[in-house]
Amino acid sequence: MFLRVPCDEALSRSVYNSHFAKMTDPSQRKLIIAIDGPAGAGKSTIASRLARKLGYVNLESGAMYRALALRAIEWDASFDDEDALLKMAEDSRITLDRSIGGNRVLLNGKDISARIRERDVTEAASRISVHPKVRAWMVERQREMGIGGGVVMEGRDIGTKVFPDADLKIFLDADPVIREQRRLDQQQVRGPSAQTMAAELRERDRRDRTRAASPLVAADDAVVLDSTNMSEDDVLSRIEELVEQRLAAKR
Ligand code: CDP
Repeated sequence: MFLRVPCDEALSRSVYNSHFAKMTDPSQRKLIIAIDGPAGAGKSTIASRLARKLGYVNLESGAMYRALALRAIEWDASFDDEDALLKMAEDSRITLDRSIGGNRVLLNGKDISARIRERDVTEAASRISVHPKVRAWMVERQREMGIGGGVVMEGRDIGTKVFPDADLKIFLDADPVIREQRRLDQQQVRGPSAQTMAAELRERDRRDRTRAASPLVAADDAVVLDSTNMSEDDVLSRIEELVEQRLAAKR
């Protein structure tokens, strides 16, 4: 299977050009920015806003795990069968596509952007992402997509595994209660299902942090931002300052 950042020729050209520029003139190089952290810390919103402001590509690595999870659900595959999941990944065409309305995720040409946010896929993504072979495959694809620079890639292992040499690594965290609340608000969940959802989020967190392969952890050289008492705008401004510093260092 081949996974690509989509899309239009202009983007491919700009990725190519930035890659070329990197080789010829380091001062022109666009950055690779890694944003990692647990669910509900605000990664997706911040990464998307930051990418838009910088004119970079925003790549949600979690969407790839979610797409594979959906395939596994559709094919009734066991979430514990590592080899079958790897084969499924190799045989699928997952596309992260940028469109005017935001990022779209396609599985074999079908738009699955909304479907992969549902609860069963969320749970399945967490379970299939523990497997080292699945992760290795994902990491390779993610490197191919981001290597040219000009990307804000978000996930759990971007700064530790996908781009250990990223120009800027952010580990975005927040108090667990706040993260749960944000996620419930985002999904507009109320009543008894809110408790179930919060419990599921805690379990996903536990799985992400304790798995043997690439557990969720801040890279040694990541800037850790605790967004518990920060507004979205505050977080964005802080990251923009850091971006400016990294760009200035290249001039
Ligand atoms: O949006 P949320 O933070 O809830 O999840 P996501 O970023 O879409 O990722 C879905 C699942 O994929 C997570 O629960 C992780 O278990 C897994 N994941 C991962 O293991 N490594 C990544 N780089 C990204 C996601």
